[in-house]
Formats: sequence, C-alpha cells, structure tokens
Amino acid sequence: MNIDREQLMRQAVAASDAAYAPYSKYPVGAALLTESGEIILGCNVENASFGLTNCAERTAIFSAVAAGHRRFLAIAISTEDAGAPCGACRQVLNEFSPGLLVILGDRQGGIHRTASLEALLPDAFGPNNVNRL
Ligand code: THU
Repeated sequence: MNIDREQLMRQAVAASDAAYAPYSKYPVGAALLTESGEIILGCNVENASFGLTNCAERTAIFSAVAAGHRRFLAIAISTEDAGAPCGACRQVLNEFSPGLLVILGDRQGGIHRTASLEALLPDAFGPNNVNRL
C-alpha cells in the first residue's frame, strides 16, 4: 500500500490536540496506519501520579488492538521537537510490527525524519523469544 506520510503526520498533529499533558506540557500525538488502511489515533495521557502516564504511541496501539487490529504499516508521531519514541513504546510497537515505518514530525506537521522500527530497536526481544507453541 502507498503510505501518505504527510497525511498520516497531519493526523498525528490532530491527535495531539487531545493530549492530556498538564505536567510536562509536552503534548504528543500518534497516528497508526493499519494494514487494512485504517488510521488509529493516540495521545499521551498524564496522571498526578506521574509514573502512570501513558505515551501517545502506546495509547494508539492499545486502542488499535482493542479494535481488532494487529498488523501495522506505519506510525506518525508529532511532538514539539520531532522526538523519537521512548524505549517502552519501541518495545510495544515491536510486538506487532517489527518492520514498522516510524515517521517523526513537529507540531506543524513537518516531517523531520523517518526510520524503521528495526533501526530504532536493534536486536529486539520479541514474541519469538517466548513462543513455546
Ligand atoms: N511521551 C510520549 O507520549 N511518547 C514518547 O515516546 C515519549 C514521551 C510523553 C510522556 C509524557 O506525557 C511526556 O511525553 C513527557 O515525557
């Protein structure tokens, strides 16, 4: 499938409008493209008990899995500095799509960098390590 990176990034920017980030003031939006062509959004959701914060990428992937999706092509992530996903989110993304295209952009929708998840999480621990079937 042809991936429209700019459109996916615009969705990520829109997703960040819903971010609940009163403590860090660092809104994050994520737009996850499923293999079937749907786009599932996520934002960071912080908590007064800071450690309970959920990142935008994990919000998106958990929503997607809950909606019945398990195969993904790309994720666009919007932050003020086009930051890369944290290690926890890389690990969670790897569970379903090690070949995922990761698109990093700013709050205006500008794309700064693209990378494969494999490049961001080399030598990953994944389902094959614990698949006992
Ligand atoms: N955050 C994300 O949503 N995704 C990441 O990959 C890195 C960090 C959020 C968590 C917290 O709400 C804020 O950004 C600052 O760490």
